[in-house]
Amino acid sequence: MKYFRLILFLTICNCSSVTSQISSLSQKNVIDRKVDSLVVLMTLEEKIGQLNQYNGFWDITGPAPKDGLAAKKYQDLKNGLVGSMLNVKGVKDVRALQKIAVEQTRLHIPLLFGFDVIHGYKTISPIPLAEAASWDLEAIQKSAAIAAEEASAVGINWTFAPMVDVSRDPRWGRVMEGAGEDPYLGSRIAAARIHGFQGNDFSSRKTILACAKHFAGYAFAESGRDYNTVAVSDETLYNIILPPFKAATEAGVKTFMNSFNELNGIPATGNALLQRTILKGAWNFKGFIVSDWGSINEMINHGYAKDSKQAAAIAMNAGSDVDMESYAYLEHLANLVKEGQVKETLIDDAVRRILRVKFELGLFDDPYKYCDEAYEKETVGKTAFQDGVLDVAKKSIVLLKNDSNILPLPKKGKKIALIGALASDKTSPLGSWRIAADDNTAISVLEGMRKYSGNQLDYSKGADVTVGRTQFIWETKINAIDKSDFAAAISLAQKSDVVVMVLGEHGLETGEGRSRTDIGLPGVQQALLEEVYKVNPNIVLVLNNGRPLVIPWAAAHIPAILEAWQLGTQSGNAIAQVLYGDYNPSGKLPMTFPRNVGQIPIYYNHKNTGRPLMNEPESVFWSHYSDEKNTPLYPFGFGLSYSKFEYSALKLSKSTFSTNEKIEVSVTLKNTSSVAGKEVVQLYIRDLIGSYTRPVKELKDFKMVELKPNESKTITFIIDKNTIQFYTPNSKWEAEPGDYKVFIGGSSDTTLESNFNYTASK
Ligand code: BGC
Repeated sequence: MKYFRLILFLTICNCSSVTSQISSLSQKNVIDRKVDSLVVLMTLEEKIGQLNQYNGFWDITGPAPKDGLAAKKYQDLKNGLVGSMLNVKGVKDVRALQKIAVEQTRLHIPLLFGFDVIHGYKTISPIPLAEAASWDLEAIQKSAAIAAEEASAVGINWTFAPMVDVSRDPRWGRVMEGAGEDPYLGSRIAAARIHGFQGNDFSSRKTILACAKHFAGYAFAESGRDYNTVAVSDETLYNIILPPFKAATEAGVKTFMNSFNELNGIPATGNALLQRTILKGAWNFKGFIVSDWGSINEMINHGYAKDSKQAAAIAMNAGSDVDMESYAYLEHLANLVKEGQVKETLIDDAVRRILRVKFELGLFDDPYKYCDEAYEKETVGKTAFQDGVLDVAKKSIVLLKNDSNILPLPKKGKKIALIGALASDKTSPLGSWRIAADDNTAISVLEGMRKYSGNQLDYSKGADVTVGRTQFIWETKINAIDKSDFAAAISLAQKSDVVVMVLGEHGLETGEGRSRTDIGLPGVQQALLEEVYKVNPNIVLVLNNGRPLVIPWAAAHIPAILEAWQLGTQSGNAIAQVLYGDYNPSGKLPMTFPRNVGQIPIYYNHKNTGRPLMNEPESVFWSHYSDEKNTPLYPFGFGLSYSKFEYSALKLSKSTFSTNEKIEVSVTLKNTSSVAGKEVVQLYIRDLIGSYTRPVKELKDFKMVELKPNESKTITFIIDKNTIQFYTPNSKWEAEPGDYKVFIGGSSDTTLESNFNYTASK
């Protein structure tokens, strides 16, 4: 077969000339040589083909397409003018397409198959924002590894995840897909997810390529409206937005995706500062960058390119390597090279990056590496995956309120009313971005709670949520304003000891293109909650949502609130185990909950301003609202437990340190309750005076600590110059001499603090 002749050629190229040195060459160099020997064989058109990515375009098991776009794509594939595909799944289809690439094209170069495996493939983990609430890097990594294993079994070798956009605006529907508002937590989670997807080496067929996206600034869309304009200062860009992307490169991520938005007047896809200067330059990223869907041509709408040809030139010159569904590279790059508007060396560089990844993945050794029908059958939906997703689902739940210890629920002898359409929903818990999962496959809360048979459990819907279950179409339900089911729910509540109400957003009310201006409980759910409260205030509110919600009334009135997000396939089991105390909640919010939508953007690491809030309520001229507090409803880092934790004895090993020194900071954590539990101990600093003004608090480290009843532990953190450095007006990361505060606690609003000073050595 021609394909194997090519491999033989590549092997000979490598071996004959360098036999004696090859053992000392790193694997990387070997791959670079293979790449070089392939690139010299390629025509300009074939090179451009590697930069071209098509969406799955025909029913592969049916006849080959004869007309229209599908026929063109099919011909392009046969002519070696496609480098990767997206949204093709299933070994049969992947194999059929790969066969065309490696057996019918001149150079037999295998394809990459990308897919949005965001929080699972068929077996669904909690949405990424929920997983971030676990602060459990091991569990998050495992969840990504499960997703990779399942997706790789159906032929996919590249996920468009993780999304590492730091997001401060819960109106933006895609906050569900990220790790929340903090650059430090976001960086740690980015690395965990990448390690989970990519593993340690690609020789395992269970690992796939990861993709850090969306580079950069996408989450800072003005007014939280998806795809909107982004304007941020250098200081915000470098200190808040870029750190998780940098962490992704350090974790070895192989691909990046750029972004739909403009950033300070330049679309991210055509942004040379981001892609060439920062990512491929300063950070020395060796992988490749894929555009977002059609984002090259969207530069025309942005008013940055007059036509697709100019857009192609701008994107390539700016460092965007792969064109996802704009058709711009294939159409125009060859002419642009001939006209001298794009240098062929740039195309060579992009091709090299892509081929290198294909070699690293082992696709040249075996292009059908991910195509084993038997393995697919035994792997997809494997029972073992369920344990992993259940584990991370439990850890993702955040206990927001538990007055009079209404939770955990007693296991027997009670009449429990379960109310809310979401309580019996088996689709919504799968959340947004779960395109391969089947509807109705999640365990509902009703099913989960029924496993605890010692109580009498009765269910009443009460009210619908507002959205139907179409993944791509917004389907508002007419009966979202219908209160006709209220009466039955109210009467059930009246007869019950405890009412568990599962309210919130449908899983498809968040995600791409799903920004909202009103982020309270959708539809008539708020009214239902208030009506039920009138007859039985003994309510446990279980929130299902893909973003922080504005729920001030519930926070003031309802005695217990459990933030349960959209938790994936095992959702109902996880929620039931927490409700009944078989799992003691340990999650902490990765994003601030506002009191009022008018406070947005609201985030813990804000600046102090020249007129910070003082204790002078009579004064008008300070940074505040006339009609609302400045503080959030629930702060970043907040989350309760069935245990009670007490922090004391914050100590520093010394009060001053210099460049090559460090300070040890310790605190005593005591579990003062009779319940074993876990606490996320968080370390924050404040740099009092900076060459750029500094946030009032910045998370710098955290530790998950398990304590038995009445147990105490001393927890120690290290502060050194890396802890305090930031991107300064000198366009460098620097630790500035001066005074700092350090805070430790179980939430960003902790007041347990001490001081230290940093003196840079001369
Ligand atoms: C999204 C990306 C996604 C891509 C491919 C775009 O609409 O912004 O995050 O990876 O589609 O599905």
